[in-house]
Amino acid sequence: MQLIIDLHKHTERQGPGSVSDTLRALDLMNLPNGQTLKIADIGCGTGGQTLTLVQHLDAEITAVDLFPEFLEELKSNAKKLGLKSRIKTLDASMDNLPFHPGKFDIIWSEGAIYNIGFERGIKLWKKYLKEGGYLAVSEITWITAERPNEIETFWTAEYPEIDTASNKIRLLENNGYTLAGYFYLSRESWMDHYYKPLEAGFDSFLQRNGNTELAKKVIADTKAEIELYRKFGASYSYGFYIARKAF
Ligand SMILES: C[S@@+](CC[C@H](N)C(=O)[O-])C[C@H]1O[C@@H](n2cnc3c(N)ncnc32)[C@H](O)[C@@H]1O
Repeated sequence: MQLIIDLHKHTERQGPGSVSDTLRALDLMNLPNGQTLKIADIGCGTGGQTLTLVQHLDAEITAVDLFPEFLEELKSNAKKLGLKSRIKTLDASMDNLPFHPGKFDIIWSEGAIYNIGFERGIKLWKKYLKEGGYLAVSEITWITAERPNEIETFWTAEYPEIDTASNKIRLLENNGYTLAGYFYLSRESWMDHYYKPLEAGFDSFLQRNGNTELAKKVIADTKAEIELYRKFGASYSYGFYIARKAF
C-alpha cells in the first residue's frame, strides 16, 4: 500500500477526471445563492477536485481520505493557493464518518465510492445531506450494452458492482434520490489527466524505491491497467452521477 500511495501522491489526481469534468458536474446543480455551502469531498486523494470546488464556490469543504499522506499533499497545495482556511481535512474511513445528520449541501466523491460499493455508499451518505442537497459521484460504468468477454470478465472480478448507467440511476432512485444529471468521462480525462501523468512518474518512482521487485510489480500492474483501457476504453468509463436527495 505504501508503494501505491507513493506512486499516486505526486500527481494531481488519483483517478480519471479533470477540472472541466468537476465544473460540468457542478453546472448540473441548481445551488442556492448568498450562502456559504457546506461540502464533504469523500475519498478526496490529494484533492484535485477539492481545490477546483473551493475556487469556484462560496464553500467550506471537509476533505476526507483514509490516507494522511494524500491529505498532507492537499494541505500543502491549498496553502500555496491561499485556500487553506476553507478546507478542513479529515483522516477517516468513508463508511465510518463522524458527521451530524443533515450537515451538508453537497456530498462530492470522484472515483472513490467503489471502495465501499456504490449502493452501500449512496445509502450510508444520504443521512449527511440536507433535504434537497446534492450528491455528485463518479463510478466505473459500462457505456455500451454489450462488450468483449475479456473486459467483462476482468471488471466483473475486480468490481462486481460495475453496471450500466441506467441500472445505477435506478439504484439512486430506489434509494431516495432524484437524478439531476449524468455524463461519462472522455478519453482525455483518462489519458491526459490521469494515465499519462502517472506514466511520466514511473522512472522516478522506481529510483525512489530502489528498483525492488515489488516496486517493479506495482509498475507492471499499472501498465497492464492502462493497456486494458487503451484496448477496451470504448466499453467503459467513469459515469458522473449528479442526484438530489428527495424532499
Ligand atoms: C481513485 S482515488 C480518487 C481520488 C480523488 N477523488 C481523485 O479523483 O483524484 C480513491 C481515493 O479513495 C481513498 N480511499 C480508499 N478507501 C477509503 C476509505 N475507506 N475511506 C476514505 N477514503 C478511502 C483513497 O485513498 C484514494 O485517495
